[in-house]
Amino acid sequence: MAHGPAKGIGRWLFTTNHKDIGTLYLWFSFAMFLLGGTFAMVIRAELFQPGMQLIKPEFFNQMTTMHGLVMVFGAIMPAFVGLANWLIPMMIGAPDMALPRMNNLSFWILPFGFSLLASTLFMEGGGPNFGWTFYAPLSTTYAPSTVNYFIFGMHIIGASSIMGSINIIATVLNMRAPGMTLMKMPMFVWTWLITAFLLIAVMPVLAGAVTMMLMDINFGTSFFDAAGGGDPVLFQHVFWFFGHPEVYIIVLPAFGVISHIIPTFSRKPLFGYSSMVYATASIAFLSFIVWAHHMFLVGMPIGGELYFMYATMLIAVPTAAKVFNWISTMFRGSISYETPMLFAIAFVVLFTIGGFTGLMLAIAAADVQYHDSYFVVAHFHYVMVAGAVFSGTAAVYYWLPKWCGRMYNETMGKVQFWISFIGFNITFFPQHFLGLAGMPRRYADYALQFSDWNMISSIGAFIYGASQLLFIFNVIRTIRSGTPVSEPKTWEGAEGLEWTVATPAPYHTFATPPEVK
Ligand code: CU
Repeated sequence: MAHGPAKGIGRWLFTTNHKDIGTLYLWFSFAMFLLGGTFAMVIRAELFQPGMQLIKPEFFNQMTTMHGLVMVFGAIMPAFVGLANWLIPMMIGAPDMALPRMNNLSFWILPFGFSLLASTLFMEGGGPNFGWTFYAPLSTTYAPSTVNYFIFGMHIIGASSIMGSINIIATVLNMRAPGMTLMKMPMFVWTWLITAFLLIAVMPVLAGAVTMMLMDINFGTSFFDAAGGGDPVLFQHVFWFFGHPEVYIIVLPAFGVISHIIPTFSRKPLFGYSSMVYATASIAFLSFIVWAHHMFLVGMPIGGELYFMYATMLIAVPTAAKVFNWISTMFRGSISYETPMLFAIAFVVLFTIGGFTGLMLAIAAADVQYHDSYFVVAHFHYVMVAGAVFSGTAAVYYWLPKWCGRMYNETMGKVQFWISFIGFNITFFPQHFLGLAGMPRRYADYALQFSDWNMISSIGAFIYGASQLLFIFNVIRTIRSGTPVSEPKTWEGAEGLEWTVATPAPYHTFATPPEVK
């Protein structure tokens, strides 16, 4: 058999190189980010003023659903798996991921899963219209005829995540270079190790939920149908047992990214490394026992409501420990504000705002008012967009010179930061007011008194959307014609902080199989 890299499309189809697969994940995720963003633009254009103008309410429901599904499962999760592929082997001194062929498979089933999902938009019956949480009976008894495509798509996406997680755990636990003990691992590796365990624990629960849907719809069972002895509330319990940890699956690797960027640009080591590790682990544990804070209105016993309320509030403790550690890292540091640092600081600020509104939503008595309002939409976009998109953007600016050997345009990066920071806040801050004033989420139209803030929110969304075009332009320009950089002096003063172990394999070669220890 001939050795050496395959050429053309074959290189990407058959690659087992963690860097190639990381690149595939990142581009796929960015494509999904633009697709999900396009859906968001459609939503905000329709909500620009009261009354129906651009689309039909039925299509609006499909847009909100697909926006959520594509962003969560298509854009955010693959982005961090892509970062994991690129960074974890290099950070722990491994030649590649532990299971390179499975790595290839876990990426390449993703485009098929999303093609299944997106193709329903063009089918008779239309795409999923039941919200990204797909509550029964909307997603079972009243589902569009294409719902089986959705179920199959979710299964594929879940299988991909589980395989990716197995790979990360196997790599981190078995392939660290000599001397790289667990408590010396870079924070990004730690956060991903813990995230991978979360994924393996909850993705099968999601698979169970969609399988029960499949049975109810096609095989006459009634898990979620009261007429047959089932209960729709069961769906919510199963879904949120997956759904709440999912939030931390998204945000823990982001914590890892921020824990690299802030020390570098503060020119100080990370403050409280071991407390960061323990805080990450306790957030992960707590994320399993708070799920019903999404369900305060289903009629739980008061004891249950109180338990879920206090348990949820407990998560603020380790999260605050992290925020204090980042601030302590910056304290008396020699800070400079390059693009990755700007995005990282914005992450800390915006995520903290989202955390505080999360505490408000955790109050069971108050949730009666907040529930299913735009306050919730504002809250989780502060957590998710700051948590995932700002940190993901920071990560790309921070590591892009490492990946392609070329420097991005700093001025353009800073301009993009300020446009997106301002655009983001104009979009989502007014949604707090809309929610408190009583505007419900997931409706294609609204009462006249909500007009002003909706128009402002839409204008912000268009600004935020446009800033992403600047991002993609800067990235492509860097890869094609950026100024070559010579590592490790990517940033003055950053030596020794950025990479604990750096033995990268040459980019275009297949890595040698790992030795069995
Ligand atoms: Cu939750």
